[in-house]
Amino acid sequence: MSDDLKKQAALAALEEIRDGMIVGLGSGSTAAIFIRELGKAGLKVLGVPSSQESARIAEEVGVSLTTFKDHPQLDITIHGADEVSPQLDLIKGRGGALVREKIVAHASKRVVIIVDESKLVDRLGSRTAIPVEVIPLAAPRVLIQLGNARVRERNGQLFVSDNGNALLDWNHGAIEDTAGLEKQLKAMTGVVDSGIFAGVASCVIVAGSAGVRKLYRSSM
Ligand code: 5RP
Repeated sequence: MSDDLKKQAALAALEEIRDGMIVGLGSGSTAAIFIRELGKAGLKVLGVPSSQESARIAEEVGVSLTTFKDHPQLDITIHGADEVSPQLDLIKGRGGALVREKIVAHASKRVVIIVDESKLVDRLGSRTAIPVEVIPLAAPRVLIQLGNARVRERNGQLFVSDNGNALLDWNHGAIEDTAGLEKQLKAMTGVVDSGIFAGVASCVIVAGSAGVRKLYRSSM
């Protein structure tokens, strides 16, 4: 995804933000551009970051932060994604922030996803491995249960999430039942959560060569 398309999607998401809103801040390169544009716009909002990195960027660009303790209900969350299905279900978590991203998304009245058109797929899982965050102790057992998965590394070291956990990347292949698989993963002992986000996105903003379009979940 080019930086220009990321910025176009981020700017379209900025149009959804109003003074006074509590805004969930996504993680990853597209969400980072959104946070920077939010800072430049000077809107009077409070952000709830979904990672240490998004908190750091928000602080750098002057977006004030809050917590669930003071604001348990968010107005809107802006997230990136790795894959988006025609039903607007998602795979997220290549950046490793999936657990906090899901918590922030589920606390929001609206979840807006910003992507370029390369992230649109016919079936989730067809290109991207499904990230699965696990308690480190359980990682070897969950690996065996999943089968075609590997432990994520970064710079030759085991990747450790902001929650102190390990990440497994599961090469599942095209997913038949997205919501069912999300529930199945969540039910496995030692799994904290997965990067499958079924039924979470209210709107997906897609930037492409022909411009920016907004896709809305049909049942919402
Ligand atoms: C981080 C994520 C990101 O939203 C996802 O990986 C997309 O990132 P990018 O905008 O850099 O393509 O889920 O955990």
